[in-house]
Amino acid sequence: MSGGALQYWKDFEGKIEPGSVEEQLLDQLDPERMPSHIAIIMDGNGRWARSRKLLRVQGHRAGIESVREVVETATRLNLQVLTLYAFSIENWKRPVDEVSTLMKLLRKYLNIELKTLMENDIRFKVLGRMEGLEEVIQKELREAEAMTTANKGLMFNIALNYGGRAEIVDACRSLCRNLIQSGASPEDLDDQAFASHLYTSGQPDPDLLIRTSGEFRISNFLLWQIAYTEIWFTETMWPDFRKKHLFQAIIDYQKRNRRYGGI
Ligand code: FPP
Repeated sequence: MSGGALQYWKDFEGKIEPGSVEEQLLDQLDPERMPSHIAIIMDGNGRWARSRKLLRVQGHRAGIESVREVVETATRLNLQVLTLYAFSIENWKRPVDEVSTLMKLLRKYLNIELKTLMENDIRFKVLGRMEGLEEVIQKELREAEAMTTANKGLMFNIALNYGGRAEIVDACRSLCRNLIQSGASPEDLDDQAFASHLYTSGQPDPDLLIRTSGEFRISNFLLWQIAYTEIWFTETMWPDFRKKHLFQAIIDYQKRNRRYGGI
């Protein structure tokens, strides 16, 4: 076991089989080069279900287990931020039944997992136009945010009724309101000031963006924040995504040379 594995081993004790692929991957992680923020486009639930002759919604249900495992793994790895793309503004185009199942799953997840989030010091936050969701869901989401707001561990963002362009428009609206009120000059505006009006205000930009299911698209996700993010694509469908895939993504990320436009 190398220094990397030693650092994390105690956090994964009892969670990883000795001699397993997971252990070998964990052993390769370099604690000095961990990403602060990982964002994930969870894709492929529908295809996962179809390939098993199941209903699409069963794919979403199976995807919840992946959400649980990724949140737990992110906590054990001591990541600062994890952002999961759960429902885009464009997803309203899906059949009513599918949308309503997704909302039910989200509520059920929160109901069951809130206790675990609290026990693990995880802070929960919604990124997106919450006002566009059903009132009862808004209330539960706001309660979960309020209950976890003082937690100091992992920042767990769920992008819900989210669109990257909508986020930028919302930031512009908030910024204009501020400018009008304060009388400040538009020339005072810079990248940092703009970013402070985004849903992710105060959080580091994602270092690593993962998309599952073999699709190579950004799908209107965190458009501002991913300017210099490293992207990792996998053929794995979201319901099959497990900690070993997260380890693989991080190992690959740690081999990259991030130049931010320099040489
Ligand atoms: C994409 O698969 C997945 C979604 C649109 C929803 C993801 C939601 C969950 C895993 C459940 C709820 C989430 C949380 C955070 C509790 P797709 O339906 O687009 O799959 P396809 O491309 O194969 O059709």
